[in-house]
Amino acid sequence: MKIVKNSKELERVVGQLKVQNRSIGFVPTMGALHQGHLSLMEYADKENDIVVVSIFVNPTQFNDKSDYAKYPRILESDIEKLNKVKCDIVFTPEESDMYPEEDKRQFDFGNLDKVMEGKHRPGHFRGVALIVSKLFEMVKPDRAYFGEKDFQQVAIIKHITKQLKFDVEIVSCPIIREEDGLAMSSRNMLLTKAQRENVSLISETLFEAKKIAKNSSVSETKDWVIRTINDNPFLKVEYFDIVDTETLETIKEWSQNVDKVGCIAVHVGNIRLIDNVRFYS
Ligand code: PAF
Repeated sequence: MKIVKNSKELERVVGQLKVQNRSIGFVPTMGALHQGHLSLMEYADKENDIVVVSIFVNPTQFNDKSDYAKYPRILESDIEKLNKVKCDIVFTPEESDMYPEEDKRQFDFGNLDKVMEGKHRPGHFRGVALIVSKLFEMVKPDRAYFGEKDFQQVAIIKHITKQLKFDVEIVSCPIIREEDGLAMSSRNMLLTKAQRENVSLISETLFEAKKIAKNSSVSETKDWVIRTINDNPFLKVEYFDIVDTETLETIKEWSQNVDKVGCIAVHVGNIRLIDNVRFYS
């Protein structure tokens, strides 16, 4: 595995791969790698000649400074993990390389950033769009792989890929869960033992909600989810909504003929976790 620490070197390496006509599968990450990330690399390996992973904790997507400060940074152990899977190139740039000067670009996400994460984390998706578009320009991938835990992020990235005419196929990959159902996330390692014992209630409740939905309205189901999770003293729901998977608009009736996903954000002390499940009723 080649470790590439700056964009100049990356440009040279990617240039050679393009001359050789090798396809590139790209997995952008912020590090603190877990099995969810590694599964993205496995998908990338199946469909491409070369797997490129980036590790960069992107400051512009953190609307909360303390969240940015405490985000886990464990590059050495990440590199160890990458050495054991199919990763050909890991790109670990410095902030000055990704943002040599302030990037003032604005993006038009339509309705997609007006709800859920976009509503509760102002500026977050602009930061994601900034870094993902810069990385796409540098890595020039044929395909890029994103986890569906960040459901709204995938929708936004698909949107800007089309809008900015990047010639990249966006591949969204299933959520990987711990044995007790907790969606894997780099933030899970920040949980105390007691918090960790309680957070499995989030996915348990979402899975149970799929059953409750069979005999309840959309709003009754939503209320039940919020009440059940808030009854646990460790957990505080920030939002739970059931939305159209394409437009992210709120679903009012189960009879609406669109694919539906229930997305949730929960505060656990000063850590914030997200998850989602599909509803088929
Ligand atoms: O999902 C993430 O880890 C980040 O939002 C991403 C896509 C790597 C951009 O910084």
